[in-house]
Amino acid sequence: MFEIARVEEVIGEFLSLKKSGSNFKGLSPFSQERTPSFMVSPVKQIWKDFSSGKGGNVVAFLMEHEHFTYPEAIKFLANKYNIEIEETEVTDKDRENRDHLESLYLQNNFAQKHFSKNIWETTEGKSIGLSYFKERGFSEEIISLFGLGYALEKKDDLFITAQKEGYSDQFLDETGLVIYSDRGPVDRFRGRIIFPIKSMAGRIQGFGGRILSSKAKTAKYLNSPESKIYNKSKILYGIYEAKKEIAKEDTCYLVEGYTDVIQMYQKGIKNVVSSSGTALTIEQIQLIRRLTSNIIVLFDGDAAGLRAALRGIDIILSEGLNVKICSFPEGEDPDSFVKKNKKDFMLDYINNESKDFVDFKLSINNDFHNDEDKKVGLIKDILRSITLIPDSLKQEIYIKKLSSVLEIDEASLFRSFANIETNKSLTKSSRKLYKTKISKVQSSPKENTSSYIYQLERQIISILLKYGAEEISYEDSRLSRDDKGENITTKKENTSKVFEKIYLDLQEDEIEFTHSPFKAIYNKLIQGFHNQSSLSIENFINDLDSSSSKIVSDILINDEKYQLHDWERKNIYVKKIGSELSQLVNETILNMRRFLIDKKIIELQEFQKEGGENDILEEVMSYYRLKKVLSAKLNRVV
Ligand code: CTP
Ligand code: MN
Repeated sequence: MFEIARVEEVIGEFLSLKKSGSNFKGLSPFSQERTPSFMVSPVKQIWKDFSSGKGGNVVAFLMEHEHFTYPEAIKFLANKYNIEIEETEVTDKDRENRDHLESLYLQNNFAQKHFSKNIWETTEGKSIGLSYFKERGFSEEIISLFGLGYALEKKDDLFITAQKEGYSDQFLDETGLVIYSDRGPVDRFRGRIIFPIKSMAGRIQGFGGRILSSKAKTAKYLNSPESKIYNKSKILYGIYEAKKEIAKEDTCYLVEGYTDVIQMYQKGIKNVVSSSGTALTIEQIQLIRRLTSNIIVLFDGDAAGLRAALRGIDIILSEGLNVKICSFPEGEDPDSFVKKNKKDFMLDYINNESKDFVDFKLSINNDFHNDEDKKVGLIKDILRSITLIPDSLKQEIYIKKLSSVLEIDEASLFRSFANIETNKSLTKSSRKLYKTKISKVQSSPKENTSSYIYQLERQIISILLKYGAEEISYEDSRLSRDDKGENITTKKENTSKVFEKIYLDLQEDEIEFTHSPFKAIYNKLIQGFHNQSSLSIENFINDLDSSSSKIVSDILINDEKYQLHDWERKNIYVKKIGSELSQLVNETILNMRRFLIDKKIIELQEFQKEGGENDILEEVMSYYRLKKVLSAKLNRVV
C-alpha cells in the first residue's frame, strides 16, 4: 500500500504544492498562514505542517485533512490505487462515528445515483429533466460529469426505492432526503432538477434542487438541510471538479450559481466554483486558499449580484487573498455570457474587465466627482477595505493608488487610514485573542517537551532514526567502581553500529526512557535494527500507530525545517558525519548519564533528609565523584 500511495501525490490532490529543493512546499491547510510552511518530503514519505505542528505519513494527512478515521483513510487509498484491503481493528467509538458519517455519505450516494438514473432512464426524467438541461446547453458528458439528476414529481419515489434497497429511516431523515411529517414520509426533492454538491474529496455532502416551472410560492432552489456532512457555509459548489485547475492556473473564478459553474466548465474554463447563493464565508475562502491566493469574482449584472460581490470583497481581503472583480452587462450572468461566446472571448473579457477592489469601488460610484460628501464617503469606504488587508505593504500600495487616482494628498489619506485602523483596533485585538486561543489549544503539549530529559530522549530517537545503522568508532572508556567504591576507567578502541552502541550503553546503565511514547519508539527501533540492520525508515514509520508516526516524522522532518528557513547556511544545523557522529552519540549518552546521576543525588538527599540511613551520604559522595568524571569527559568530547 505505502509503496504505491505516494504522499506527495495524495496530498497534491488537496493542496497546491510547489517543488522546493528535494521537497514540496505549500500553504498550510490547517491555519491561516500566508507564507508556506507546509512541507512534504517525497524521500521520507512524510509531511509536516510547521504552523500547526501537525505531521505524519500519508494516512495521518488524510485523517487530519479529510477528517477520516484510520480505516477510512486506508479505504480511501485502497480505492484510489485499486488495492484490496482487509478490515483493520478499530475501537467501538471510532467505528460508530465512522459508520455514522459513512452511512450518511452512502445515503447521499444512493440518492445521487437514483436522481441520475431518473434522468437517463425514466420517461418523466428524460422528457422534463434531461430536456431542460439540454435546453440550457449542457452536454450529456457534462451532465454525467457533474452527476446531475432529476427528482420525479411523485411524493415518495426516492423514499420507496430507498426502503426497497434496505436504507433506514434514520439516514434518510438525517440527510434530509426524506421529510417525516404527520402525513408520513415525503421526499424533499420533488419535480426538481438536482445538483449534487461534493466535498473537495468528491464525497456527496448534499443536493441543490431547482424547480422547473415558475410555480408561485416555491423557492427556485431548494437545498439539503444542515447535517453532519452538509454545512452550508463550508461548501463550494464545483470545488471537486475545479481543484486541480485552480491550483494549476493559480486563480479561482468565483461565481454565484450552479449553472454558472457548469456552463463555464463546459466551455473549458474549469477553475470555477460557486458560493451557491449564500454570502461568502471565511470557511469557503479557506477552502480556496488551499489551492490559490487569487480570486476573481464574476458576478451577475444586477443589483443583487453587485451587493453579493461587494460583501465578498471584504471577506476575501481580510483573509489575505488577492481579489479582482469582473462584472457582466446588465441582464447577463456568467452562465448566459459564456454560453453565447467562445472560450477565448470570455477569457479576454474577464482579463480586460477585471478590476482590483479600489478601481471597482470607484467605478460603481462614478457619480462622486461633483458630490464632495459622496467622495468622502467613498474614500472612507475604500480605506476601510484597505484596513482589512493583513499585509501592510499591500495596504500601502493601495493607499498610494487611491491617492494618485483621486489626486488626494497621500499624507492625509494615510492619516485618515490610521484613524480607521485605531477605531478598529478593538475588534482586531479581539480577533487576535481568538487566534492565540486557537493556536494554544492546538499546540498544548501533553508532555513537558521543554524538560531536559525529554530533549535528551528525543535526541536519542533522532540519532537512531538518522544514523542508527551507521558505523562509528570510539574510544570505549567504561566507568565502573571497584570493590572500594573508587571509580576506575578501562579504555578500548572500538567500532560498532550507532544503534548497538546506544543500546548497550543504555542497557548497561539500566536507563529507561521516561516518556512512554519515546520508550515505545525506542524499543521498536532497536528491535527493527536487530532484525534487519539497515532499517527502512519509510516502512518503519508506516508500521507505527498514528501518534508514534507523528512523533517520528516530527523528528525526521526537523532538518527539513532548517532547510525551510535556510538555517543550514547560517550554520545552525550541522550534519554529523564521521567522528562528529561518534562525538554526538557519546555526548548524548554522557549527558543522559549525568542527568540521571543528578537525579539520583537529589533523590538520595531527599531520602536522607527524611531520616534515611547514614551510609547514604557515602553513596551521594560516590555519585558526586562519578559526576565529576563524567563532566570531565563531556568537556573533552564537547
Ligand atoms: N440560490 C438558492 N436559492 C434560491 C435562489 C438561488 O440557493 N432561492 C442559489 C443557487 O445556488 C443558485 C445561486 O444561488 O445557483 C444563484 O442564484 P440564481 O442566479 O438565481 O440562479 P442560477 O444559478 O443563475 O440559476 P438559473 O440560471 O437556473 O436561474
Ligand atoms: Mn444566475
